[in-house]
Amino acid sequence: MNIDPVFGADRYARYANLRADAPVERIKTPPGTPGPAELWLVSRHDDVVAALHDAPLHLEQPPQYQFGIRTLLNTDPPDHTRLRRVVSGLFTRKRIQSLRIAVQAIADDLIDHLPAGETIDFIERFAVPLPITVICQMLGIPADDWRLFREWTPKIFNTDEESVTTRPAAVAQLIQYMGGLVRTKRDHPADDVTTTVIQNGKDVLSEQELLSTLMLLLIAGHETTVNLLGNGLLALIQHPDQLELLRSDPARTPDAVEELLRYDSPVSHATIRYASEDLTIAGVRIAAGEGLLLALGSANHDPALVSEADDLNVHETATSTWPSDRACTTAWARHWPDWKANSRSTRYCADPPRFPLPWNQKSCNGGSVH
Ligand code: HEM
Repeated sequence: MNIDPVFGADRYARYANLRADAPVERIKTPPGTPGPAELWLVSRHDDVVAALHDAPLHLEQPPQYQFGIRTLLNTDPPDHTRLRRVVSGLFTRKRIQSLRIAVQAIADDLIDHLPAGETIDFIERFAVPLPITVICQMLGIPADDWRLFREWTPKIFNTDEESVTTRPAAVAQLIQYMGGLVRTKRDHPADDVTTTVIQNGKDVLSEQELLSTLMLLLIAGHETTVNLLGNGLLALIQHPDQLELLRSDPARTPDAVEELLRYDSPVSHATIRYASEDLTIAGVRIAAGEGLLLALGSANHDPALVSEADDLNVHETATSTWPSDRACTTAWARHWPDWKANSRSTRYCADPPRFPLPWNQKSCNGGSVH
């Protein structure tokens, strides 16, 4: 089966077919995608969760697929544990609290500068600048430089044929940029995440690991949220009753965020994992060394997780657990409920008429991997 792992607009219908007829399906990846040409796509909720927790899988890429950047996302213990120790204390309660205020200020400023009564590109005007400005502030990166990352990141992650030729230069430019940032912070330490990673990583990380850790924080720290904002807004526009519920009761925002994460997953599948030994999932034999794509987006739409899985319901949602040693930078997740409970973001639900619907949805993201 030829399949674009990022799928298209009809991906949830295709996932439903796969869950019913081929829960572990052999797929071909698009030409130009780093990694194996063929993978096993696992689409049922229970199989995905079992694979994440218990299956003999590893993330270290076979040598032929490595393109020089080893990060938390493609290492196994003990290297993963060593890298993880450097970042696990980054998101302290204090930093997250001060971040909340900073995020609110950035969001307010972006909204205040949106032209009223005109069509806007939500992705370019809000969904990208909000998280990228936040992560740049956290890393101590000059505010205007985010436009460089906006240019390089798609070249690194796109899977079209052109990216085969443009990716190496973009990776090199990003590495060079981060090298300059590290030199600056070594000369002028500051109260930011880059300085903390440099200090925590002293005698623990190689220079290459230091750069790749910072690059991961930069990219994972914004691409995902761009998708959440874009997909989330689109879902609400497509479900005016749910949008109305949220507007009439903004206190539901924390649950709504969880539901939007489930309904149209910002990360459509987990990082490729490789079988450490021969194994069987849903009756399909997978040989040691073969790669698996765990379809998070499909798992989130499996009626085994929630009965009306294709409906958006901002009143309630269902979530699955992620193995704690691989969870998204632990402390971030730990403080998330605290942050949501104190969020003033309800302002935008309660005060919507400045930006009437319908919105032009042409540039909403379809989900991506990080
Ligand atoms: C909507 C927002 C986000 C989503 C949906 C998301 C999703 C994920 C997922 C699914 C993974 C696991 C990948 C795998 O093992 O296959 C992950 C890992 C990770 N994420 Fe996020 N993420 C988000 C925001 C962030 C932010 C803001 C940061 C940093 C500031 C971040 C940093 C990381 C890191 C460092 C890992 C690797 C963890 C490890 O393997 O130890 N993420 N994220």
